[in-house]
Amino acid sequence: MKEMLEQIKREALDALMAAENTQAVEALRVKYLGKKGALTAVLKQMGTLSAEERPVMGQLANDVREALTSSLARRQAQLDAAALDARMQQEALDVTIPGTRPPLGHKHPMTTALDELKDIFIGMGFQIAEGPEIELADYNFTRLNHSAGHPAREWGDTFYMTEDSSVLLRTQTSPIQVHVMEEQSPPIRIIAPGRVYRKDEVDATHSPMFHQVEGLVVDKGITMADLKGTLNQFVEQLYGKGTKTRFRPHHFPFTEPSCEVDVLCHACGGDGCRICKGEGWIELLGAGMVHPKVLSGCGIDTEVYSGFAFGIGVERMAMRRFEITDLRLIFENDMRFLAQF
Ligand code: PHE
Repeated sequence: MKEMLEQIKREALDALMAAENTQAVEALRVKYLGKKGALTAVLKQMGTLSAEERPVMGQLANDVREALTSSLARRQAQLDAAALDARMQQEALDVTIPGTRPPLGHKHPMTTALDELKDIFIGMGFQIAEGPEIELADYNFTRLNHSAGHPAREWGDTFYMTEDSSVLLRTQTSPIQVHVMEEQSPPIRIIAPGRVYRKDEVDATHSPMFHQVEGLVVDKGITMADLKGTLNQFVEQLYGKGTKTRFRPHHFPFTEPSCEVDVLCHACGGDGCRICKGEGWIELLGAGMVHPKVLSGCGIDTEVYSGFAFGIGVERMAMRRFEITDLRLIFENDMRFLAQF
């Protein structure tokens, strides 16, 4: 019996060393220590022993059981530690591996053009103003001296929000002039960038939504010379020193006198080409001296104050700046196009 017990112990310990996982360890526990296990089977034969042998064998059997029990626990602990180790290895974060850089975007060309424009005017002491895109017809037209039947008011050109034509999507940034003059008293020196809306069919040079930058200066003794000086300074900063401008007489209901400002075509130098459509000049903005009716409508004393205003088409400026020939590309947001700027 002694030999049997020692053999069980040897066999069990060898098998345990070879056990590679929890299930194998559990199977060995059942095989040797379980109710139908090898050790139990030997113990059942205790009755056949003599009275002297019995306690000696009992003691030995207990020793074997304890040895097996603690070895099983030790092996299980080893396997648990190894499993944890393997998992740590597998899930380890190697901080020395170069990461994958998320693609970094950049400004949309319209934003770049707008930022440049703002910088120039801020440099000349202008402040930035804002106004609502959903506007009262009163501010968009009436208070800008558009007569009741003015063609610009027509439903075919304007997105009206109400049946009675009192609320609309602003067709120009000029109503911001009225908001600013209501809220501030002169001296006023602001630019106001924003979206404007007109019922235009989409093509290479038209979009029902586009951007303007409004400018307004109101102070004592402001003259057409200030308008020309300011806009020439702007054009030179935008397109380079010595860039030629042309002030062409025009009509706007809210300025008097009014003009349009053209720049000499950068592509042909005035000879006429595809870019300037044979004109030699490219139209850049509308401007004029603020109409006295508009000033007095905002409570400004026209005996003391005068002012000038201008409105710049930002898309046109950006297209020239980035040599973009189709307006639609600016709004389609195709990354293959935008990534070039
Ligand atoms: N609002 C005019 C337009 O949309 C431009 C303009 C602004 C003209 C300010 C004169 C003064 O065409």
